[in-house]
Amino acid sequence: MNTITLDITNIFSEQIGREGLDGAALAEAFPNLETYNNDLRHSPYPFMKLPETRFQFHEMKSLAEKIKAQGIKNLVLLGIGGSSLGTETIFNALLHPFHNYGREFRGEAPRYFILDNIDPHKINSIIEVIEPEIEKTFLVVISKSGETPETISQFMIFKELLKKSGGNFQERIILITGKEKGILNKIAEKEGYQTLNLPDGVGGRFSVLTPVGMFPAILMGIAVDEIMDGAQAMSSHIQNKAGMENMAFVLSATLYNMDKSGKPIHVIMPYCERLSGFADWFKQLEGESIGKGGFGPTPTKSVGVTDQHSQLQLYVDGPKDKCIMLFYAAQDKRPIPDSFPYLDDVSYLAGKDLKDLFHAEFQGTCLSLTEANTANFTLFLEDINAYTLGVLFCLFEMVTVFLGTLYKVNAFDQPGVEQGKIYTKAIMGKKEFESEGAKIEAILSSPKKIIAFT
Ligand code: PA5
Repeated sequence: MNTITLDITNIFSEQIGREGLDGAALAEAFPNLETYNNDLRHSPYPFMKLPETRFQFHEMKSLAEKIKAQGIKNLVLLGIGGSSLGTETIFNALLHPFHNYGREFRGEAPRYFILDNIDPHKINSIIEVIEPEIEKTFLVVISKSGETPETISQFMIFKELLKKSGGNFQERIILITGKEKGILNKIAEKEGYQTLNLPDGVGGRFSVLTPVGMFPAILMGIAVDEIMDGAQAMSSHIQNKAGMENMAFVLSATLYNMDKSGKPIHVIMPYCERLSGFADWFKQLEGESIGKGGFGPTPTKSVGVTDQHSQLQLYVDGPKDKCIMLFYAAQDKRPIPDSFPYLDDVSYLAGKDLKDLFHAEFQGTCLSLTEANTANFTLFLEDINAYTLGVLFCLFEMVTVFLGTLYKVNAFDQPGVEQGKIYTKAIMGKKEFESEGAKIEAILSSPKKIIAFT
């Protein structure tokens, strides 16, 4: 049930002519990756140790028990970027798509609300929904730096709501943040909130296997140990396989070579709605880790079959600047009844299954891409479950690390994101950020080219 297969046939020139890579292209990257992988065996990055160490699993599980014993109806998660995308991926893949609609879909688990934006309309709407049950609402505030204005401002709003609801509201707030430093730690110390941590050296977008992703998952009753088992198994595959047998080597060498051969757009296209969140997660991981110094691929997302009727025309017939990363996961069954027996035109659907139509659509996409010489490859997943999700997390984190070494960039910083945070704080009048004022003023007061309609 857990086999994952990678088919890269359609990236080579045998299939797609001069748009494809020659057979030796990938192998050229391997010596570099082998050496790097060897070094990592001796000094792994902190995030690589997580599947084995299962950081704070004991604390998380006992805290979750206490919370459940108090009766939790709503879980509100505050966080953005690496602090929310992992949880969204897990929930999207493993919970019922209509989880919040009723007990029949979510069992004993609470409803959840992931606030990965500060759009006031969304915030106001969520408050409207949860306010009647505010005394049974738990807040999990997630910020590695503990300083992100979006998350802190949300916290300020939701803390007051919880406080108004009375009781020992502090017990309904949990903060997940880096150890010691940062505003969230100061607040926790002063106001007495329970905290969980990210281990030292684990950055936001590499933190899904820390309490950032694991604690919300535990609260939802998700089998986090299975996620970790999957990640551990993939980690051992990556450590022990060489060359073309190492899936992370092949994927990173493919994505790198695609960019270098004029295909900088990486379209992540799952044929499986449950991997839509995963596509967003990897989009951030690849984009924020590798897009540096004027270089880097542009990851983008499409979902099969929906986007066949939106983007496929472009992928097939537009510029050959894209590589399509397809994911295919076997689907549930849903027979198509023979509803219109008098219509010959639809008889080819009658008595078949949606699963077969879905597969035929996927095959149709592969064939038309390949026929049009658009590079594409597919990762086939036998099943989507906690274990395979763990496998994917580990695989694509390592793909990103290997891409970092191929591009020769530091995959772990994000100077562009940090600059945006600095400007926001300066515009909002934060002390010590006054020096940015003149620069911002110059930009904002420069002549504008505006077209208005009234
Ligand atoms: O991956 C990253 O480092 C970023 O996307 C951060 O997760 C994001 O900016 C939020 O930062 P923080 O977790 O410090 O609030």
